[in-house]
Amino acid sequence: MTAQQLTIELARSDDAYQFALLSRELVEQGLGWSWTAPRILRQIQSPDALVAAARVDAALVGFAVMYFAAEHGHLNLLAVQLQSQRRGVGRTLIRWLEESAVKAGIFDIYLEVRAQNMAARHFYRALGYVEFEEIRGYYNRSETAIRMVHDLRVNSAVRVLPFRQIIG
Ligand SMILES: CC(C)(COP(=O)(O)OP(=O)(O)OC[C@H]1O[C@@H](n2cnc3c(N)ncnc32)[C@H](O)[C@@H]1OP(=O)(O)O)[C@@H](O)C(=O)NCCC(=O)NCCS
Repeated sequence: MTAQQLTIELARSDDAYQFALLSRELVEQGLGWSWTAPRILRQIQSPDALVAAARVDAALVGFAVMYFAAEHGHLNLLAVQLQSQRRGVGRTLIRWLEESAVKAGIFDIYLEVRAQNMAARHFYRALGYVEFEEIRGYYNRSETAIRMVHDLRVNSAVRVLPFRQIIG
């Protein structure tokens, strides 16, 4: 997939249902369905969240949801359609959200991932995220989560401009 074909843009309200289906199939399998369309729609409409859609032509290939608190971001959801995985879509989505975070003055991004989801753990590590906590029973009181953080000030592909350059 070339960079020209892939577009990352803010999600629209009518994306919510497709995102919810992707979450159920690829992220929440075996856990029930907590990221339903109304919940995702609330994120799309929230001033405290960014929801990014990845498309090739008009077709949806992936999406990500990041929530912004005062001093950190939290990646709530990320999924790439099976047939589009390992083609740089996930990386491009995360970098797009991280660049938005940096522009907003937020440099720490947190997330939780299912401990058994080794593909995602490898993916996040490849992008600079560090595992720092294991939380037993985090999912449905039965499944372990790994909490990860990415400090965007260090070892990052995201350009953090020196303060002088930002103001001057
Ligand atoms: C995890 C996920 C989002 C990665 O998206 P992707 O578009 O396939 O990832 P990319 O192509 O951008 O991969 C970037 C790098 O991450 C690493 N990576 C990605 N998938 C990997 C895998 N299955 N195994 C090992 N490393 C992997 C690689 O280093 C890769 O670079 P490379 O392909 O040049 O070797 C995708 O596999 C997915 O949607 N999985 C199902 C849902 C999920 O687990 N979501 C995350 C938890 S909320």
